[in-house]
Amino acid sequence: MPTNSAAYLAAPYADLTVAEAPYTSAAAGELVIRARAVAVNPLDEIKQSTGNVMYGWLPSPAVLGEDVAGEVVEVGAGVSGFTAGDRVIGYAVGMEKNRNHATEGAFQLFTVVQAQLTARIPDELSFENAVVLPLAISTAASALFQTDQLGLRHPTSGAVPADADADTDAAEWVIVWGGSTSVGSNAIQLAVAAGYSVITTASPINHDRMRALGARHVVDYRSGSAAHEVVDLVGGRPVAGVFAVGTGSAEPALSIAIATGARRVSLASPSVSMSSLPRRRAPLALARFGLRMLARTAPLMVRSRLRGIRTRFVWGSSLMTNEVGPMLWGRFLPEALAEGRYVTAPRSEVIGTGLESIQPALDALRAGASATKFVVTL
Ligand SMILES: NC(=O)c1ccc[n+]([C@@H]2O[C@H](COP(=O)([O-])OP(=O)(O)OC[C@H]3O[C@@H](n4cnc5c(N)ncnc54)[C@H](OP(=O)(O)O)[C@@H]3O)[C@@H](O)[C@H]2O)c1
Repeated sequence: MPTNSAAYLAAPYADLTVAEAPYTSAAAGELVIRARAVAVNPLDEIKQSTGNVMYGWLPSPAVLGEDVAGEVVEVGAGVSGFTAGDRVIGYAVGMEKNRNHATEGAFQLFTVVQAQLTARIPDELSFENAVVLPLAISTAASALFQTDQLGLRHPTSGAVPADADADTDAAEWVIVWGGSTSVGSNAIQLAVAAGYSVITTASPINHDRMRALGARHVVDYRSGSAAHEVVDLVGGRPVAGVFAVGTGSAEPALSIAIATGARRVSLASPSVSMSSLPRRRAPLALARFGLRMLARTAPLMVRSRLRGIRTRFVWGSSLMTNEVGPMLWGRFLPEALAEGRYVTAPRSEVIGTGLESIQPALDALRAGASATKFVVTL
């Protein structure tokens, strides 16, 4: 039996600490991956910073982490398409409700993943570049393709225009607010792969990156007129949906939908940043945060309803219980990566090697990231 170790969140608000962990074999439908790279996400940082405000069901100690890349070491019963030694990426869902929280978190050497949320990667793709994808692409796909979200048509094999000039003036628009986020970078590529033209927002320093991912137009979201600029660029063409990523993105996204006639808006981020909360138990600050959240979200939902626009929050793991999961992980992603039709975005920045480097990676994320995913090699 291999020896396992994990980076544990031993108590609410604590720094991660590395300790021995049990090794768990793959059950039916599962794989065990020897992790070679993991990435950190805002939700890991939020869980660490806010105690039990989110993921209150997670026990202490907890193993966080969603993004893992490595080699398959065990294949569970009933799993086809994978063998030991395969190089893969997997979406680790250990933080979700009703999962095995100890064995399915990504921040350990041997992680149990669902085969249906795992994809083989090409030999030439490094683990540290590939690991930027799992949560971000899953969230983007859930938002764009689930029938209860934007409900867009799915990408088809071979339909990915590699550059923005390949789309046509006849295509419907999809608006991705926050294209330089990890989620947004994947939403741009997936929408283009499904045959839509994309208008997105990002800071000017990232505009060329957005165009390289396939966006037709990019607007600076910090300019006071960004929503108007997007509406002008739409130019009367139909908008199939608006996907809002980033704190404060919901309001401009809804304004764009109202002005362009889009009927659906999908929201990835709360209207108030959780990073405004101190990293300790702070009931007063939490109450203020709750009130600010209510004051921002309630009018948005009322306005949306009055305008007949369906506005919903998306949950990145929801694709594991519907047809979007198999479409993305079983078909589109492995094929598109193998054929070089999908790029790993955002770029990865390796913070260090070993489980001890995950805490510095979380600290780096807390300080801020721009079109970058912080990664640790193992
Ligand atoms: N609902 C879910 O299941 C789910 C899953 C994953 C993530 N999320 C949420 O989605 C958001 C993005 O997560 P991520 O991992 O993709 O983030 P990330 O990669 O860390 O995002 C960094 C980027 O955010 C951009 N940004 C910052 N503030 C923005 C704003 N107000 N509007 C638009 N863009 C903004 C910055 O763009 P510039 O550098 O260009 O300025 C920066 O490049 C977070 O709020 C996260 O909590 C939700």
